[in-house]
Amino acid sequence: MSNYHIKHLEEYFQVYRKSVRNPEAFWEEIAEEHFMWRKKWNSVLEYDFTKPEIKWFDGAQLNITENCIDRHLHIRGDKTAILFEPNSPDEEAQHITYRELHAKVCQFANVLKSQGIKKGDRVVIYLPMIPELAISILACARIGAVHSVVFAGFSAIALSTRINDCDAKMVITSDGSYRGAKTIDLKGIVDDALEDSPGVATVLVAKRINSDIQMKEGRDKWLLPLLDAESTECEPEIMDAEDPLFILYTSGSTGRPKGMLHTTGGYMVYTAYTFKNVFQYKEDDVYWCTADIGWITGHSYIVYGPLANGATTVMFEGVPSYPDFGRFWEVVQKHKVTQFYTAPTAIRALAKENLDFVTKYDLSSLKVLGTVGEPINEEAWHWYNDHVGDKKCPIVDTWWQTETGGILISPIPFATPTKPTYATLPMPGIQPALMDENGKEIFGNQVDGRLCIKFPWPSIARTIWGDHKRYKDTYFSAFQDMYFTGDGALRDEVGYYRITGRVDDVIIVSGHNLGTAPIEDAINEHPAVAESAIVGFPHDIKGNALYGYVILKETGESRDRENLKKEINQVITEHIGPIAKLDKIQFVPGLPKTRSGKIMRRILRKIASNDMGNLGDTSTLLNPEVVENIIQERL
Ligand code: WT7
Repeated sequence: MSNYHIKHLEEYFQVYRKSVRNPEAFWEEIAEEHFMWRKKWNSVLEYDFTKPEIKWFDGAQLNITENCIDRHLHIRGDKTAILFEPNSPDEEAQHITYRELHAKVCQFANVLKSQGIKKGDRVVIYLPMIPELAISILACARIGAVHSVVFAGFSAIALSTRINDCDAKMVITSDGSYRGAKTIDLKGIVDDALEDSPGVATVLVAKRINSDIQMKEGRDKWLLPLLDAESTECEPEIMDAEDPLFILYTSGSTGRPKGMLHTTGGYMVYTAYTFKNVFQYKEDDVYWCTADIGWITGHSYIVYGPLANGATTVMFEGVPSYPDFGRFWEVVQKHKVTQFYTAPTAIRALAKENLDFVTKYDLSSLKVLGTVGEPINEEAWHWYNDHVGDKKCPIVDTWWQTETGGILISPIPFATPTKPTYATLPMPGIQPALMDENGKEIFGNQVDGRLCIKFPWPSIARTIWGDHKRYKDTYFSAFQDMYFTGDGALRDEVGYYRITGRVDDVIIVSGHNLGTAPIEDAINEHPAVAESAIVGFPHDIKGNALYGYVILKETGESRDRENLKKEINQVITEHIGPIAKLDKIQFVPGLPKTRSGKIMRRILRKIASNDMGNLGDTSTLLNPEVVENIIQERL
């Protein structure tokens, strides 16, 4: 039996039991057999959740790029490592082999060194989804610089805040980016950001759109000539397992973004292990995750996890709607993609469109489908299952967080029977607990509570950069000796987990706890509804009442609104009970969303509560324009 690759349910349970009985022996075996270490660890795990301090493979030495690139060269040097699919279908895809990737990463690493970047320095990367993004990440890791990728859709203010928070010396960007039919002036945004970030000495600029940009003398340098001048060999910096690998910012429920710090050895082991199992990755597969590398999903499951397994990983520069809503499926057909991993919000958007966009492509190469980022509703799940997977591809509903580094709860395809809207079972080594408000663990099945994890896993974030107290307060103070996820979950009769949404989104109506996600699921079942968001607003008698924002499908636009409201409440009553009925229903053209596709409930809550004075910063929203409309039409 191999711990590393689980193939059926019985094996999952065996491996899981073993992983929980002796986590250190379990992870040690995996680390020893599947990775390249320059020096072995002194101890597998040392931790203390009260400080909190967590160390995996302490004393070990390695370089993650040796594991992701060098060790593949003699067996799969000519295999495609990164398959770059450009924004425009008319531009040719690029197949970058492991050997080419090695040369490019080494050259880039040499450029970093020649520009004065040393081990431990922070480098902010603000690039679109072009090969230079993955290469620059790996180049930082090659020399031990700490990368901090900022999603290239963030504003200058958001970028500058992050640069300053981690004290970056260098920014890597491009002249601009393509996004569907549009181009974006990335370098202009960087210039604005740097007005407020004086610590940045060097800006490396990749050429992508050939736009005419300003280059600041002494600070800004074109990347290409620098690369061309460098050797294609660069000895990897030998890192300690607990040396920082990267910082990635995530928004907290309040305040400044949190710079989650991930370290080297444990992150590598866990992302590689979960990639292999959750996607049942096999040597000749072509794996595609549609996320942007600016998010943790891209770090762990476009770059590090796949490359550590010697996989072919697709990097897609474009958007699902360009040149039309069939683009995803056109790319699946073209590259014979075997695993496809995307977000529920993308699935819902595509499900609204004509089915011809899907059916005209041959999707028979697909074996496994995945979702991540938010709860997937039943309707979207079935659409994905029926029309994309042809009912033959297990859907892995993967639950995890920026903070967790890798997937914690997910089905293992062909082993765990899936169940719509359920993330199902914990990965080996993950010990979930459901907690009540009094800090007591809730045992048994058919229960719900706050989701915590009782024991460390190798890729847990080690701190918030520069603010260890906030790390402790946010994740280790709500429940004693546990990592608190901020999510609510229920455990069904067989022990499957379903994530019910952030607990900060739980609304208590007449003393009943109602998760927003199940209500939204119910509403979305209505044939005229495309998407919805529920928030609470103060109510004299019930404490809180429910306010629903509903986007109609085109087919619903012509319907009588009052009848629709009644029907929506009827669906809720049928799915959950009359307690969950909505007091107010507002039909809206869109919902305010973050760049990662999450609904900004904070804004919706304020509007529902008639508290529009302080909506906070809406500039980083994907669609700030919908906010004004929602305010005007508010009930
Ligand atoms: C939050 C973390 C993990 C990469 C992308 C998001 C929600 C994530 C699921 C899922 C229900 C999910 C949780 C979590 N979430 N995956 N499969 N089902 N909810 O990373 O931005 O750090 O957000 O996303 O609420 O806490 P993130």
